[in-house]
Amino acid sequence: MQIKAIDPINRPFFAGEVSGVDWRKVPTPQEAEAIHRGMDEFGVLVFRDQDIDDEQQVAFSRALGPLETATGDIARPEERRLSMDVNDISNVDKDNKVVARDDRRRLFGLGNQLWHSDSSFKPVPAKYSILSARIIPDKDGNTEFADMRAAYDALDDKTKAEVHDLICRHSQIYSRGILGFTDFTDDERVKWAPVRQRLVRRHPRSGRLSLYLSSHAGEIEGWPVPEARAFLRDLNEHATQRQFVYAHVWRPHDIVMWDNRATMHRARRYDHTKVRDLHRTTLTNEVSSLEQAP
Ligand code: OGA
Ligand code: MN
Repeated sequence: MQIKAIDPINRPFFAGEVSGVDWRKVPTPQEAEAIHRGMDEFGVLVFRDQDIDDEQQVAFSRALGPLETATGDIARPEERRLSMDVNDISNVDKDNKVVARDDRRRLFGLGNQLWHSDSSFKPVPAKYSILSARIIPDKDGNTEFADMRAAYDALDDKTKAEVHDLICRHSQIYSRGILGFTDFTDDERVKWAPVRQRLVRRHPRSGRLSLYLSSHAGEIEGWPVPEARAFLRDLNEHATQRQFVYAHVWRPHDIVMWDNRATMHRARRYDHTKVRDLHRTTLTNEVSSLEQAP
């Protein structure tokens, strides 16, 4: 296995391309460890030309750690296209037809166009996300990644001291609300009550600190709401400056894996009449960010 920085001049330590890995075969413990080391360093890893199905994706992902269940979306059980181990990041229905422009799941899914960290709205959030491109439009629809370790490191000392012990409240009700999506059922409002997460967390393997921001973060404990949101906006603006960002241009059969503890990401727009079908497996962080204090 070999890992090379995708942009060695501008981002030598963020986003690597991996060669010598075949996702159709479950990795040995040594291979899994090499991937973890690569993730510790680069935060985002790209694997090209991996023509896999869900079963292979799940088997390989499981060899890296326990999976999270796909309970973060609003599809009813009878509408689901994929198993509960796989997040459906697509714009198609069970018959593989592109959904209507005003389809409720589509409008909810547009929240992915806001910078976020996966499952930060769950008490135990996500560790790695693993996104496999099955069908992609011929242009647009990139996914962008921001390095939240570099963003933390670049804060001035006063801001580092200010954010050090802050606790945010995260909910999908907040993030979807930013886009004006408020069409939640009573059950969804209960299920997605805000959860607490640290604003600064320490990576258990690399020891690096990162800003744990996400569109789901809508409050800071002990702060008035408008002041908290204004501050979180400032931090997001700082953290997503172009020097911290890698933009992934998808090819069919790409797999991109990212560490949600150290990065944010967002989808970019594309022609909504074209099929875009990606499947995501997700490793659970197993503990809350509250247990990963700096
Ligand atoms: C995700 C996600 C972005 C995209 O899969 O978690 O946010 O570009 N995807 O589809
Ligand atoms: Mn996401």
